[in-house]
Amino acid sequence: MIKAVILIGGPMKGTRFRPLSLELPKPLFPVAGFPMVYHHIEACSQVPDLKEILLIGFYQPNEALTRFIANAQSEFSVHIRYLQEFTALGTAGGLYHFRDQILGGNPEYFFVLNSDVCCDFPLQEMLTFHRGRGNGGHFTIMATEATRQQALNYGCIVENKDTHEVLHYVEKPETFISKLINAGIYLFSPAIFKHIKVVFQRNQETTDHEMNSVNRYDLYHPTKEVIRLEQDIFAPLAGTGELYVYFTTRFWSQIKSAGAAIYANRHYLNIYHRTHPDRLSNNGEKKPKIVGDVFIHPTAVVHHSATLGPNVTVGKNVTIGAGVRVRESMILEGSVLEDHCCILYSIIAWNGVVGNWARVEGTPNDPNPNKPFAKLDIPELFSDEGKLSPSITVIGSNVHIPGEVIVLNSVVLPHKELGRSCKNQIML
Ligand code: GTP
Repeated sequence: MIKAVILIGGPMKGTRFRPLSLELPKPLFPVAGFPMVYHHIEACSQVPDLKEILLIGFYQPNEALTRFIANAQSEFSVHIRYLQEFTALGTAGGLYHFRDQILGGNPEYFFVLNSDVCCDFPLQEMLTFHRGRGNGGHFTIMATEATRQQALNYGCIVENKDTHEVLHYVEKPETFISKLINAGIYLFSPAIFKHIKVVFQRNQETTDHEMNSVNRYDLYHPTKEVIRLEQDIFAPLAGTGELYVYFTTRFWSQIKSAGAAIYANRHYLNIYHRTHPDRLSNNGEKKPKIVGDVFIHPTAVVHHSATLGPNVTVGKNVTIGAGVRVRESMILEGSVLEDHCCILYSIIAWNGVVGNWARVEGTPNDPNPNKPFAKLDIPELFSDEGKLSPSITVIGSNVHIPGEVIVLNSVVLPHKELGRSCKNQIML
């Protein structure tokens, strides 16, 4: 029997995703028509013998999360539970805290997946790789290749190229170590808890002063129970022969910013060709013109003279009027695009209204879509100095954009009635 744990973080996490994460836990933000973690759950449910999925995070359980879990559970016929940390315990602290729940039923292995990765989830291939190595009590990290510059922002791995054992692991190194980076998906045997326990006990014995001096406190949740998988567990396990690396060249990305969500949307739509062709719209009589990959929720009403695509997702109960043009964008549940408006490289969050002939536009900063790895080619919405990067436009939920207005490279916070056009601005 196998299990999976998805680390979903909590309200203090995902800050680069604001304002989109202000109303809904980031893991529930829809990409390509489905919540981010829905894609993880779907992939896990296809692994034979995977019997239970545990979501671990520090969000207060709310209606949206509870409803999502109930629906996913019945759709995929797999047992799913949410386990709430009392505070942010770090990527290994939560696992340790809930070890009895994870080990219940004696799983042979369990996957651990970061909720903010977006990929094609080659979990079965990873399992086959894992089974072919080690003594059964070993651990595998999924890895992908970055450029030399990109790699510095990730956990970097040096492997033995013959055996694929991890020889060296450094999280976000200051200088170049390796182009092989941690992809945030792991396969553990229960023996991992032995290693986490050592760190847990050492932390308990450490004085407050020592904890501070090694910068171990989470700024918002100072606790000795914070344990980080990457620095506290993988780094010391490297070179022991117990940690392996499974390399994938398949599509992988992270969803840290709104711009990255547009990019992930494009890739999930592309994956649908193989996995769910029925989710992609086709051209036809009395239907809107479809260019490339487009997902339209069955409840959306789209005028036949509208043109959508490529890489567009239209959510539940959206209404799209005559002559509307949308490309490289996501229109979320309940929004209304009035006649002849134009939406390019943008996200229109829930229940937005875009008036007649209005234009909402972001700037494409296209990574090469043919490259499997393109994460940090996607600019952050804000530069290090807090300035708006030329990037996508994000319209927060319940925003009304009047007719004939132009919104360019801007972020509009929720519940705003926009009175005029704006460019490169954050509209509070
Ligand atoms: P950053 O570059 O700082 O974003 O680092 P990262 O990409 O390594 O991400 P991070 O370690 O912050 O998070 C990895 C995954 O673990 C994400 O899906 C988070 O939501 C989740 N996560 C992070 N901290 C915690 C925690 O304290 N508890 C739980 N349950 N999940 C967490």
